[in-house]
Formats: sequence, C-alpha cells, structure tokens
Amino acid sequence: MKKKTTIPDILKMKQNGQRITVLTAYDYPFARLVDDGGVDIILVGDSAGVVFAGHDTTLPVTMDEMLYHVRAVKRAGPKALVVADMPFMSCQTGIEDACRNCGRMIKEGGAEAVKIEGGSNMAHVIRAVSSIDIPVMAHIGLTPQSVHRMGGYKVQGRNEQAERIMDDAYAVQHAGAFAVVLEGIPASLAAEISAELSIPTIGIGAGPSCDGQVLVIHDILGLCEKYSPKFVKRYADLAPIISAAVEQYVAEVRNGEFPTEEHSFS
Ligand code: KIV
Repeated sequence: MKKKTTIPDILKMKQNGQRITVLTAYDYPFARLVDDGGVDIILVGDSAGVVFAGHDTTLPVTMDEMLYHVRAVKRAGPKALVVADMPFMSCQTGIEDACRNCGRMIKEGGAEAVKIEGGSNMAHVIRAVSSIDIPVMAHIGLTPQSVHRMGGYKVQGRNEQAERIMDDAYAVQHAGAFAVVLEGIPASLAAEISAELSIPTIGIGAGPSCDGQVLVIHDILGLCEKYSPKFVKRYADLAPIISAAVEQYVAEVRNGEFPTEEHSFS
C-alpha cells in the first residue's frame, strides 16, 4: 500500500531528481480520484473560487470556504500531501492574522501545509508561519490574487522583471518555504530558478524544467470551458460526456424508460 507523502519526501524528490506531481482538488470524490491516480501533492487551491464557485477571480474566496474544501478533501484520506491555499486577505494583514489563519487550515481543516502567494513582499509572513512549524509552499510570478496590480493574468518576469522574480525566489527560500510555485514566467527563467534553489519548484505555465508541475483538475478534464490558458493540457473532455448522460436521463424520465422494475422496491 502507498505510504503517506510527507514534507521530507517532497524535499528528497528534488535531491533525487524525481519530478513532483501536483493537482488541485476541492471535494471528496475528486480527492479520491486524484489520489488514486498517484499524485504526490493535492493542492486545495483558491482556484475553487473560479472553477467550483463560478467567480471571475479568486479574490472573493473566504477562509470558511477554503476550510470547507480542505475538510472535504481530507475526508478522502489521501496519501498525497494536502496543501491548503491561503485565500486573499487571510495573510496580508499581518503576521498574527497569518499565523492564526494558517493554523486554522492545519488544526480545523487537517491540511499538512499551506500555500501563500507573494515573494519578497510576503517573506516576513512566510518566515513567521514556517517558524511555528507550519510548512509553507510559496507562490511567485503570476500570482492570481495580484490580478489588479498586474492588469490581468499576464506572463511575469520577462526582460528587466526577471531579476525581481529571481529575488522573490531567493527571498521565499530564505524565509523557510519548503517549495515554491512558479506561475506564468518564461521557461528559461524558471529553469534558472530551479537550478539555483535548493527547495523544489512547482511550475504552472513555467516550462518543462521545474522540479514539479501543477494544474487545475477542472482544466485537465475539460470541465472549465470559461477560459483555457496556453499552458493547460486537456487529458480528457468530460463536459460533453456529462451533458450526454444528463440529456439521456432527462429523456428517459420523460418517456417513462426510467425507472423500471429493476430500480424499484417490491
Ligand atoms: O489556486 C490554485 O489552484 C493555484 C494553482 C493553480 C497553483 O494556486
């Protein structure tokens, strides 16, 4: 039987040159499926706000909503490491709030680590949270909670911006992060950061040279047609399959084909 994945296991994977697989999940059935598929890390992402709740951005997501998703994922008993994403404004108002909110994800949600968006600007928070033994995955580059500052979901770190992203990478590692998500940056910059850092880099729209990769489960299964970024690879097209099943059910109930005796009690 597969053993539970731990933080030291993830660090060892980088040292051994093994690539780290990460997918999001927000509920019990998907957590079971994703875990059975063998991922190393389940990220309960605040992308739930977009692909699950239907918001345009991740900004409206609350602590209570994230706790609800983390608990549902944990009920699946995943062997993968469970990382809880910290929603906008849960860590931005100071170290005390950040420690309290990250602590809630561990204590009330059952997460084994948290993810915090931000680089040098959030290093003090990452240091404080890590120092109370809550493992932190950092997230730099295209950080969706910074959508208004960035003026949209735009690739970060091109040309003269590259130095700032490299500084962010060093800052989060130095602050104690156990891993860092590199989102929406040029592949060459991601390769450079991955070679420089001792902690694993997890790429999303950051090319093939990161130590691991993460994607949103709804994107790889074709369940989120609203928007599909260039970096997504669709591994299944489930939306038409689900629609066909629903249409068949509706037709069969209407024409009396379902339910039959087979589905009835005597
Ligand atoms: O919220 C999320 O799902 C994420 C990943 C896409 C990195 O932050």
